[in-house]
Amino acid sequence: MRNLLIVTGLLVSTASLAAHPEGEYVARVSDCIACHTAAGGAPMAGGKAFPTPLGDIYSTNITPDKTHGIGSYSYADFEKALRQGIAKDGHPLYPAMPYPSYAKLSDPDLRALYDYMMQDVPPSATANRESDIPWLLSARWPLHIWNAFFTDSPQTASTNASDALKRGAYLVSGPGHCGACHTPRGFAMQEKAYDDSDAAFLSGETIDGWYAPSLRGLDLSAEELASLLLIGRSKHAAISGSMSEVVTQSTQYLTKPDADAIAQYLLSLKADASTRQTKANPHAGQSDAGKTVYLRYCSTCHGAQGKGTDDNVPSLVNNRMVQAEDPSSLIRVIVEGAETPTTWGNVSYKMPAYRGTLNDQQIRDVTNYVRGAWGNNAPPADAGAVSTVNKRETRHEGGAVATQ
Ligand code: HEC
Ligand code: HEC
Ligand code: HEC
Repeated sequence: MRNLLIVTGLLVSTASLAAHPEGEYVARVSDCIACHTAAGGAPMAGGKAFPTPLGDIYSTNITPDKTHGIGSYSYADFEKALRQGIAKDGHPLYPAMPYPSYAKLSDPDLRALYDYMMQDVPPSATANRESDIPWLLSARWPLHIWNAFFTDSPQTASTNASDALKRGAYLVSGPGHCGACHTPRGFAMQEKAYDDSDAAFLSGETIDGWYAPSLRGLDLSAEELASLLLIGRSKHAAISGSMSEVVTQSTQYLTKPDADAIAQYLLSLKADASTRQTKANPHAGQSDAGKTVYLRYCSTCHGAQGKGTDDNVPSLVNNRMVQAEDPSSLIRVIVEGAETPTTWGNVSYKMPAYRGTLNDQQIRDVTNYVRGAWGNNAPPADAGAVSTVNKRETRHEGGAVATQ
């Protein structure tokens, strides 16, 4: 009886209050709120900064406000913005808006999304912010050319794949736009592939100072993978960096069958020879100094053998972030600390920040120690890597930039 009550309570508290729950689900999986909400701002009212080599641009107000938002967008206008990256007034959108992925949204999903955006999202009279790009450089016409070259037509799923695989492929390459962070970008900042017909798809990229690892050839079980997406951690691993926001705002809302479909699909992607991590002499970066720092500052939580504790502190053994070719995420977690995402299935655990406690040399020593200890096998970080992360501009949401 008691169990039954608890279960009912959970169902009630997670049930949607939206009049268009299907559309709300598409919005969650597509994570519109993450980019279209500034820190402290009204949901979907825009104003979050996106750095480009030329200056910052800002996401726009996509609440149904008629003056400042998209309240005057017809379904056709909305479809054009989402599938082709062209706003109602005809100007092309910067590709920070992941329309090449949204082009793959099914018609019913896009329709449901439109109804939800127009009828369930509260309107906000927040004015859009102009980009910081000097007017001469901000001419948007080259984007039309960008569009013509790099956006592809909606994907046709291969016919012999199972329904779950097809669903997983759809969620990952369409609404989930996982490639926006996990697929390497080419000379014009375009993602090198938008679906799995190319081995570059989801093969790893560093974006905004976080290394989003290759999702090809993952050595996790389907169950662990689904758990990482749904609650931000599994028995031995945890999510951190910009993926935390993705879990908090988006993937924790996946239905279990959809999380399983994504897991099954990702596990079907083979590692490509060219994307395999370089194996160097793991002992090149090992030093007693690194071990000393580890034992003094890290082992209380992660254990002398790096295994962490089940369901609490992640294992650093055979860990993708620890062993990534690009050590910047690892260094950044040490410098800035980390926190498991807060989700419905997970109490958040914190790791302290070591900025100020450890100097650059100690951070490099401990970085290289964990990269080569316990069977880990990653090349040592070079001398510049730590100071780059340490000095990097810390970008606060909403556009303020502070140098620490
Ligand atoms: C990764 C970040 C990101 C995500 C995710 C994202 N957007 Fe955007 N979107 C942007 C940015 C940045 C702009 C502004 C681009 C510009 O000004 O050229 C934009 C512009 C738009 C516009 C044009 C609005 C106008 O002012 O005319 C619409 C409509 C839009 N987004 C809808 C959505 C919807 C719906 C979703 C979820 C399905 C979504 N966006 C998800 C970043 C994002
Ligand atoms: C905003 C950028 C961003 C987006 C969008 C994004 N990721 Fe990530 N992802 C990251 C970063 C950064 C990491 C590394 C942090 C970590 O491993 O904890 C990561 C890590 C992961 C991991 C853990 C890999 C491992 O071996 O530890 C999985 C699984 C994953 N992402 C799946 C996805 C899926 C599925 C999507 C789309 C639904 C997605 N990601 C979208 C940035 C992103
Ligand atoms: C107080 C306990 C604690 C201490 C001390 C600690 N950590 Fe952590 N660490 C954690 C927790 C909890 C997480 C999970 C946070 C998350 O999800 O991002 C974590 C995450 C990490 C990660 C990211 C793993 C992943 O897969 O995303 C790395 C790398 C890491 N710690 C290394 C270190 C190093 C190196 C030290 C010593 C300099 C250290 N930690 C000290 C508790 C601790």
